[in-house]
Amino acid sequence: MKTYTLRTWYTLVLALRLNAAEDFQWTKINPSSFYYGTFPPGFSWGVGSSAYQTEGAWDADGKGPSIWDAFTHTKGKVFRNETGDSACDGYYKVQDDIQLLKELNVNHYLLSISWPRIMPTGIKTELNEKGIQFYNDTINSLLESSIIPIVSLYHWDLPQVLQEKYGGWQNISMINYFNDYANLCFEKFGDRVKHWITFSNPWAVAEKGYETGEHAPGLKLGGCGAYKAAHHIIKSHAKVWHSYNNTWRSKQQGMVGISLTTGWGEPIDPHSQADIDAAERYIQFHLGWFANPIYRGDYPEAMKNYVGRKSAQQGLGTSRLPTFSVQEKIYIKGTSDFLGIGHFTTRYVTQKSFPSLQVSSYHMDQDLAELVDPKWPAPGSKWLYSVPWGFRRLLNFIKTQYGNPLIYVTENGVSEKVQCTQLCDEWRIEYLKGYINEILKALNDGVNVRGYTAWSLLDKFEWNKGFSERFGFYHVDFKNKDKPRYPKASVDYYKNIISANGFPNPREVMSITLFLSYILFISQILDSLVTHMEMVTEIVLPTIFTLCILISIVLLLFFLQNHS
Ligand SMILES: *[C@@H]1O[C@H](CO)[C@@H](O)[C@H](O)[C@H]1NC(C)=O
Ligand SMILES: *[C@@H]1O[C@H](CO)[C@@H](O)[C@H](O)[C@H]1NC(C)=O
Ligand SMILES: *[C@@H]1O[C@H](CO)[C@@H](O)[C@H](O)[C@H]1NC(C)=O
Ligand SMILES: *[C@@H]1O[C@H](CO)[C@@H](O)[C@H](O)[C@H]1NC(C)=O
Repeated sequence: MKTYTLRTWYTLVLALRLNAAEDFQWTKINPSSFYYGTFPPGFSWGVGSSAYQTEGAWDADGKGPSIWDAFTHTKGKVFRNETGDSACDGYYKVQDDIQLLKELNVNHYLLSISWPRIMPTGIKTELNEKGIQFYNDTINSLLESSIIPIVSLYHWDLPQVLQEKYGGWQNISMINYFNDYANLCFEKFGDRVKHWITFSNPWAVAEKGYETGEHAPGLKLGGCGAYKAAHHIIKSHAKVWHSYNNTWRSKQQGMVGISLTTGWGEPIDPHSQADIDAAERYIQFHLGWFANPIYRGDYPEAMKNYVGRKSAQQGLGTSRLPTFSVQEKIYIKGTSDFLGIGHFTTRYVTQKSFPSLQVSSYHMDQDLAELVDPKWPAPGSKWLYSVPWGFRRLLNFIKTQYGNPLIYVTENGVSEKVQCTQLCDEWRIEYLKGYINEILKALNDGVNVRGYTAWSLLDKFEWNKGFSERFGFYHVDFKNKDKPRYPKASVDYYKNIISANGFPNPREVMSITLFLSYILFISQILDSLVTHMEMVTEIVLPTIFTLCILISIVLLLFFLQNHS
């Protein structure tokens, strides 16, 4: 009985797979097509948030100020002069928010630790026990609810003292301060936290913090500041990875990675070599800037060439892009146990030369222009166009460029600008459906993605945009001092994706259900025959088996016909 049913099972599964393969070919020719299928068993579904955007309690219980406290307290830096002083009051609402996570039924929650909450002045000789207690309790509560914490050590809130005294990421001494802080976190929480992110979106830290000054610390050091900050961030990341590898890994058995956020760049004219090269530069100046040293041992060739050439034309003796020594390259290469990827949108890219004698700038160094298709939906932030197919291309690029690393999607989602009182966020549902489906296609391309983190759990403080852009599954009423949370329609949608582990084909679900009920029925008959009949003759059983097989074949044929 068992072998027969198993064999029938295999045939059925094989038939399903053949059919799926056909569907899959179709997705390559039609980038907008939908692909039914489920994610591998054990795929981790989650949501994320970050400390400064949600916690509030900016000076509570001994927390020191961060560069974001200083920045938002300066008038004119943030939309409507809003601040994260209280944000979502997440510091006081850990239990409520864990309730929301349970409602979503996520496997993991990505959160960040605020460095100045546990080290008020950024240095290890002054610790804030209440801050340590807060994260310790949060981590314990998550684990009690069977939610895996993925913890980022740096989501942009550098202790203000380190900025004031040393110039923040412009100063090489940050490497040791950050390493001390990371080691404290490993020591205090590493027995329970197994997924560490050193930096969340370091591109924004460098570019917005030290090039354009749109973000804290608000410095406008065009053409130099961002490269220098990134240089120190990459070295800090590597140092922390080595600390973990040498000191903690054998005891704690966790993973340390970095989370890089990047758009995809598609050549506007796929037949123009200049545009193809420009699109490649776009990716290299965003993702490759950080990923290339970590996975291949140095800055991307395109960056070295372009920044180097422009620097020379500007009469500078050395490139504005710093260089790594041979030892540093070896030290940095291979320092990521997984790659976190944040991804939101795509651009068309075309070649555009900027005269190099103008002021130096990271943007002009790239010699390219970004374009968008006006048909792309852009429901929220004005930079955030929904272009799902770009995600699959990005994931495939990562696979080929960096040796098919283990990937966790650490940020993906969409905002809204309108105040949607009905909590009806159909566009978010459409966005998630499209982007998550492209990950499924990428998995079939052989990309090694193990988890997905939707961005984000709550509406929250959106940096220099204040509270004007809302990324949350849960609407937060910021005007009400209790900061109540209300589920949007996308909560149910995401819950369904999680419980089905993807997008099972409704037709297949039907057939499998029918098939299973049939098996159950037959085995019940057999059971009763075996228990109730004294004489299970050599004739009765084989007859029933043959009958089973015949019915299976008929059902299978019926199913295949239905399916094709
Ligand atoms: C923000 O602060 C600046 C400087 O004090 C002021 O000019 C501006 O009107 C403020 N904006 C709002 C929306 O209050
Ligand atoms: C953190 O929680 C763990 C597990 O409950 C406990 O053993 C440890 O003492 C706590 N540490 C602090 C600093 O509270
Ligand atoms: C960098 O930090 C060190 C202390 O670690 C300090 O002595 C030095 O002045 C800083 N450099 C700059 C340029 O601020
Ligand atoms: C990581 O740690 C292991 C065990 O201590 C060691 O053998 C290995 O060489 C380390 N890796 C690197 C790249 O240093």
